[in-house]
Amino acid sequence: MQHDPKLTTDSPTWSIETQLVHSGQSQRPASPDHVGNPTLRPIYASTTYLYESVEALDQAFSGKTSKGEAAFVYARQGNPSSNTFEEAMTQAERGVGAVACGSGMAAIHAALLAAGLTTGTKIVASQDLYGPTITLLHKLFVPVGAELILVDLCQPAGIERLRSEQPDIIYVETISNPLTKVADLDAISTIAREIGATTIVDSTFTTPCLLRPIEHGFDLVVHSATKYIGGHGDSTGGIVISSKNALLSQLRDYTMLLGAMLSPFESHLMVRGLRTLSLRMERHCQNALQVARFLQDHPAVARVHYPGLPHHPHHAIAKKLLPNERYAGLLAFELTEQTRAAAFRFINRLQLCLSATSLGDVFTLVSYPPISSHRTLKSTELHNMGITDGCIRVSVGIEQIEDILRDLDQALQS
Ligand SMILES: Cc1ncc(COP(=O)(O)O)c(C=O)c1O
Repeated sequence: MQHDPKLTTDSPTWSIETQLVHSGQSQRPASPDHVGNPTLRPIYASTTYLYESVEALDQAFSGKTSKGEAAFVYARQGNPSSNTFEEAMTQAERGVGAVACGSGMAAIHAALLAAGLTTGTKIVASQDLYGPTITLLHKLFVPVGAELILVDLCQPAGIERLRSEQPDIIYVETISNPLTKVADLDAISTIAREIGATTIVDSTFTTPCLLRPIEHGFDLVVHSATKYIGGHGDSTGGIVISSKNALLSQLRDYTMLLGAMLSPFESHLMVRGLRTLSLRMERHCQNALQVARFLQDHPAVARVHYPGLPHHPHHAIAKKLLPNERYAGLLAFELTEQTRAAAFRFINRLQLCLSATSLGDVFTLVSYPPISSHRTLKSTELHNMGITDGCIRVSVGIEQIEDILRDLDQALQS
C-alpha cells in the first residue's frame, strides 16, 4: 500500500500541523471498484487479504511486498487503517515506526514488554504515574521478578537517584495527573544514556503538537489516544512510537501475540482526530491558561496547579519544554473549603462542564480524583502525594472561554 507522494505528508518540508491535517489521505492505485480515488483512505474492515499468487502471499507474510511496500495478510498482524494511524504518528513524533493498540493501557503494556521488563530487570518509574500503570507494574511484572522502584522523577534529587539505582528501564509521564508536575525529559535522558537504560514516556497530556519526547532523547513514546488524539470522547485506543528499529520490532511482535491491536474502525477515528489535533490543542492550551488565571484570583480557590502559572514549582521546566505558552489543557485546583462535601457541591452545581472521568475531549470535563483516577489510593496516600480533599481536576475543553468561566464561577458561588 504505497501512498501517492502528491497526496500524502511524507515530505519533511511540511510542518507537523500541516502533516496532521493531511493524515490518512488516499493512496494509489485508485479504488479497484472504479469509483475514483477517494480523498480519504477507506476503512479496511477485512480480516484477511488476497494476493495474485501463493508466492506473493508468502512474501506478504514478511510484512512487505516484493516492491518493498507494506503488505497485510491478517488484521491482528496489521491492517491498512491502523497502518495509516501509525504512519501519521511516526511522522508527528519523529520516530522510526509506531504500533497502534486497543487502549492506552495496552500500549503501555506493549512498551514495557518491548523495553525488556521481565525477571531480573529493574525499572525506576515516576511515583506520580497514572494509577493503573503502577498497578500494571505491581500485578504483572513484580510477581515475575522485575524490580520496581518508584521515585519522584519530577525533582532533581529523584533524577540524580537514577545514577545510583542504575535501572534497565526508566518510565515517566510528561505531565503528572492531577498535580501537573513536569518531568525534565532532557535531564532524565542524559542520565539514561550514561547508564544504558531504555526510556519510556507517556506523552498523553502533551501530544506531538506540544512536545516530541524523541527529540529530547527518549526511546519509546506512549499515548492514550482515547484522550486528545481521538479528542471527541467516542473512541478508545493507544499507540507506541519508537525511535529505534529493534524496539519497534519487539513492539510489533508483542502486540500481535497479545492481540492488542487497534481495530480498523477505531484507527479511522484516531486519524480523523489527528486532522484537527493541532487546532484543538491550541485552543485547549489557551483556555486552560485563562481558567488557571481566573481560578487563582477566585476567593473560593486556595491553590491552582497549572505549569503555565509562574508560581508552579516546574514552571521553568515547562517553559523550556513547552514553548509559546502552550502548557497543555489539564489543571487541578483546591477549594478553600478543603472537604469532599464542598467538592461534591461544586461539581453538582456545574451546568456546562461535564462531571465525568477522562480528559482531552472537546468539552470541559471535571473530576474528583479520589473517586475517579485515584480511587484505589487510601486518603493518607492521597495526602502524601499532595492531593487534598478539596482537590478538583479540570480537563479544559474548547468551548468559548467566557462560557467555561461563567459556569465555574456560578458553581464556585456555592
Ligand atoms: C496519562 C494516561 N496514560 C494512560 C491512560 C490509559 O489510557 P486508556 O484509558 O486509553 O487505556 C490514561 C487514562 O486515563 C492516562 O490518563
